[in-house]
Amino acid sequence: MTDTQSTSHGLENLLHETRAFPPAPEFAALANAQASLYETAAADRPAFWADQARELVTWRTPFTETLDWSDAPVARWFADGTLNAAYNAVDRHVEAGLGDRVALHFEGEGGDTRTVTYADLQREVSRAANAISALGVGKGDRVVIYLPMLVESVVAMLACARLGAPHSVVFGGFSADALRSRIADAEASLVITADGGFRRGAPSALKPAVDEALQGQGTDTVKHVLVVRRTGQDVGWTEGRDVWWHDAVDAADTFHEPEWVDAEHPLFILYTSGTTGKPKGILHTTGGYLTQTSFTHKNVFDLKAETDVYWCTADIGWVTGHSYVVYGPLLNGATQVIYEGTPDTPHRGRWWELVEKYKVSILYTAPTAIRTCMKWGDDIPGGFDLSSLRVLGSVGEPINPEAWMWYRRVIGGDRTPIVDTWWQTETGAIMISPLPGVTATKPGSAQVALPGIAADVVDDEAHPVPDGGGGYLVLSEPWPSMLRGIWGDLERFKDTYWSRFPGIYFAGDGAKKDDDGDIWLLGRVDDVMNVSGHRLSTTEIESALVSHEMVAEAAVVGAADETTGQAVVAFVILRGGHAAKAETPEGSAEVSELLRAHVAKEIGPIAKPRRVLVVPELPKTRSGKIMRRLLRDVAENRTVGDATTLADSSVMDLISAGLQTGG
Ligand code: WT7
Repeated sequence: MTDTQSTSHGLENLLHETRAFPPAPEFAALANAQASLYETAAADRPAFWADQARELVTWRTPFTETLDWSDAPVARWFADGTLNAAYNAVDRHVEAGLGDRVALHFEGEGGDTRTVTYADLQREVSRAANAISALGVGKGDRVVIYLPMLVESVVAMLACARLGAPHSVVFGGFSADALRSRIADAEASLVITADGGFRRGAPSALKPAVDEALQGQGTDTVKHVLVVRRTGQDVGWTEGRDVWWHDAVDAADTFHEPEWVDAEHPLFILYTSGTTGKPKGILHTTGGYLTQTSFTHKNVFDLKAETDVYWCTADIGWVTGHSYVVYGPLLNGATQVIYEGTPDTPHRGRWWELVEKYKVSILYTAPTAIRTCMKWGDDIPGGFDLSSLRVLGSVGEPINPEAWMWYRRVIGGDRTPIVDTWWQTETGAIMISPLPGVTATKPGSAQVALPGIAADVVDDEAHPVPDGGGGYLVLSEPWPSMLRGIWGDLERFKDTYWSRFPGIYFAGDGAKKDDDGDIWLLGRVDDVMNVSGHRLSTTEIESALVSHEMVAEAAVVGAADETTGQAVVAFVILRGGHAAKAETPEGSAEVSELLRAHVAKEIGPIAKPRRVLVVPELPKTRSGKIMRRLLRDVAENRTVGDATTLADSSVMDLISAGLQTGG
């Protein structure tokens, strides 16, 4: 296996990790998931999913076809059925007499709260659907949503789903240009945004980025901008285009007949970084996606909708927010917490305070957050009553055994099962995870493919590796919530996922099997970095750097980082006229600061490099490929590895010497 970007834990440590935690008998006795699910699913995979689809989803027209794989790799699941996602997430619960159940406990960063029942949600979503439809949006039209974590964000997504208008949520931390390119690629007709949101105690504006984006190329498909008032800050206003949410939605009728769509009707597009500079619009459709998100949410988190309080800390701008804040939990009629702000505002115990306040019983978060809390110390969570917790989940990147153990001991009181869930924007739903009450969990391993899922670790020739071996993670059978393509680019879809191993889905992750055959994820094997559980493309950041007039060439690597898993480190060569600026340590620091800010502006603060190092040359092979492995050695302060395949083997000496003198 080449160049695996394993994150904070090394393969060596993992091979020595032998702890295991069998399920508590009391938990197992009441668990939703039973071991027999694996056998049932293996006996007839499509039939197993068809059963789940009938049990968990309400169909307007029942389906008679299960899987059509004749046009592989584009799958069709339950294709002759019709349904509506918002009806499934909201209305049917109200019809079942559960209208008074709390759907959302919203907590603003400043402490303002809002409780939304399923009946409230039905009214709000219907109103929003009427208002959006009055703005000219209909079935099949794309809507870009650029919002902070608010009740309106969930309502906006569901209102689009109700109309059969695919939404494309763009994370509020992305820049105007990132927003512009996504609006243009999706050819959206409406953008839903807010004046701003509260971030670390202060209002942070969003509307200016929309205004800027809409001045850019390829955005004239946008007819209206619907604006939620959150912070009350002043906003620029384009008459005829901009509409206040409270004017349009509050006045709209509370009845709206859902648009019944085919199972394969697009539900959403979500852009994610790939190995090239251009983000991919991952396309998900309705029936299969809803089936698998609700199935996994129910079984992986052991959700008991009547009694549990569920909290997934993800923002709706990421796929986790789509599948495990909006669709999975709401389809299952869950009561959940959504929180607008950061974990340390106004104090570092904020999350634990919320767990205590709402008696959260299921918590789903990311390793980077766990490691940050670990760094802040046991005393902080120790000051709150966390005894309501009974299941803990992790997602986004490999969780190192120490963080896993801390999560279990300090947050879970040595009592709760931990589910380490592996999946991707592309897979739509959790694919590999222990089942609580069934699996004996191992710190640091996602372990087993869920019932109905075929995952394996293969070598370069696509042969499954034996237990104890390492290679590439692949998915060898279609699954209901799989992506149906890349928006507008079928070739790229085939090329990215289906060409490395013909006929099998290549996930882009390295993995190993332990002696029990359990799967351990090792990080990406391509040029995709994982910073705080967020995917960033090295190429995309390199393009951003090169777009600055000072920069001639750039190479970006992900260097291991204790808290964020990986951190972005950039190596840049300055253009002739600018090279002198970086000759002194002060000059070099100034250049570095400027370029860091430039990347934040081009892509968004999450892509801002931790370090920018000015170098005289970059290490390249004879065919001109940058050897990132060697740069990673420098970035992680290691002795530089084998450099014999470089076109010019003295380059690494030049780089090291330059860095020592502060260049
Ligand atoms: C990539 C997908 C899935 C929602 C959040 C990220 C990494 C994700 C795990 C895990 C090890 C993981 C993989 C994957 N990843 N979960 N439990 N253990 N690695 O979604 O942005 O599409 O990123 O995140 O590298 O390929 P995404």
